Amino acid sequence: MLAEYLSGNIVGLDMFPEFVRELDKKALRRGLSERLKGVVGKMEELPFEKNSLDLIWSEGAIDNIGFEKGLSHWRAFLKEDGMIAVTCPSWLTSVHPEEAEKFWTDAGSKLDLIEDNIKIMQDCGYQFVVAFALTEDCWTKNYFEPREQAINELIEKYNNCNTVKEYAELNRCEAELYRKYKQHYGYVFYIGRNTDNSNLRGGLL
Ligand SMILES: C[S@@+](CC[C@H](N)C(=O)[O-])C[C@H]1O[C@@H](n2cnc3c(N)ncnc32)[C@H](O)[C@@H]1O
Repeated sequence: MLAEYLSGNIVGLDMFPEFVRELDKKALRRGLSERLKGVVGKMEELPFEKNSLDLIWSEGAIDNIGFEKGLSHWRAFLKEDGMIAVTCPSWLTSVHPEEAEKFWTDAGSKLDLIEDNIKIMQDCGYQFVVAFALTEDCWTKNYFEPREQAINELIEKYNNCNTVKEYAELNRCEAELYRKYKQHYGYVFYIGRNTDNSNLRGGLL
């Protein structure tokens, strides 16, 4: 999608070679393979040159290594005035239901409030530009519903295999958890600029 909106060269990084191969295949099919390439790598050890990137775009991944660790490691790879756009699951209110907190802790993610993450972003040396929560459709229409459909196809394909059925149950629990507590947590986009002028401030949508 980024390659369709932007004219520059894009490298997509993931630790799993199968995912990277899939990206390369899609790029080829859409005629984008000249300027969109996949690379297998770890986001905590980026295989890029320092000060070489105009933009780092990362959705739903930084919490695997921690918001602060990711932001501070990645900044060195951005050019001056380079931008970062990153989503991270965050608390939207000061109420943190135990069941939701346990789900995220078990998934290896620690959630913080939006204002705390903005402060982390600024402390890491970025000019904060904007933060906004993803809408409900991003979770339901664009994620839980297609995933449920894909899982149902797998259940049929693998003849009611128990592993797939357990995965289907996990998907349903995650969707139910979201339905119950969606006012308290969500994915939030944080956008910032790599600048020395950390006095500049952005806005909160
Ligand atoms: C929830 S998915 C999000 C994928 C994609 N950004 C999206 O929005 O659909 C998180 C991705 O991070 C990758 N990942 C997790 N830890 C990683 C690490 N340490 N280095 C590189 N990739 C990692 C996983 O393989 C997975 O593809």
